Amino acid sequence: MTQCPKHIAIIPDGNGRWATERQQPRVSGHKRGAERLKTIISHALSFPEIKALTIFGFSTENQKRPATEITFIMRLIRSELASISDEMDKKNIRLRFVGDRSHYPKTLLTDIEATEEKTKHHTGLTVTIALHYSGRWDIAQAVQKEHQLLADGHLSASDIKPGSFTRFLSLHDLPEPDLLIRTSGEQRISNFCLWQLAYTELYFTECFWPDFDTDHFDKAIAYFQSRQRRFGNITPQESSL
Ligand code: IPE
Ligand code: MG
Repeated sequence: MTQCPKHIAIIPDGNGRWATERQQPRVSGHKRGAERLKTIISHALSFPEIKALTIFGFSTENQKRPATEITFIMRLIRSELASISDEMDKKNIRLRFVGDRSHYPKTLLTDIEATEEKTKHHTGLTVTIALHYSGRWDIAQAVQKEHQLLADGHLSASDIKPGSFTRFLSLHDLPEPDLLIRTSGEQRISNFCLWQLAYTELYFTECFWPDFDTDHFDKAIAYFQSRQRRFGNITPQESSL
């Protein structure tokens, strides 16, 4: 298979360990991680087939972290937003966030909404940052929406099907990820895009996110291209035997 993934999900893990290994505070890993993310987004633009990147920026469970680290991450996102907003415009990138917005600091939410509004018509690449997000949260909020339609009589129980349920999920407007990249050696999903990863190819690398460069990205693409995707079917060669 030589196809390129259209939608790539990324769990950019290992910022803290990268910093700790260098006797630096964890937050310096996040700072460098944000730089890497910008590099990878720019690099992804050189693959015209890639239409979407979905990044696990901060999970529902990350709220267990010390308040100082959380505050740093939220401020970092806000300052990055201010500096990248114009560039997103120039590069035809649509930037948006998914997750539980009731947890977003007010000032950050205002800036996020402004950036989303400004870039919503862009068609080159959709970059989605999952923030205060988890796959289970997403499924639960989707069930709430569907339940409301049922309660209002706009839907009956027999209408509930996997294919129609997806329209209530946060990423309903994107194809499911073809490839998931997770850095730092961990081999788990950690509550990311649980519904959408059903048939996603999984790529794990030992590299900490702050060291993940364009060569690592290309390796992940090459890995994807070496996979044969069957989606539960059998190969055409097998069916002719
Ligand atoms: C990923 O790096 C970034 C976020 C979750 C915000 P970590 O902060 O999880 O780094 P490690 O896993 O502790 O090294
Ligand atoms: Mg981690």
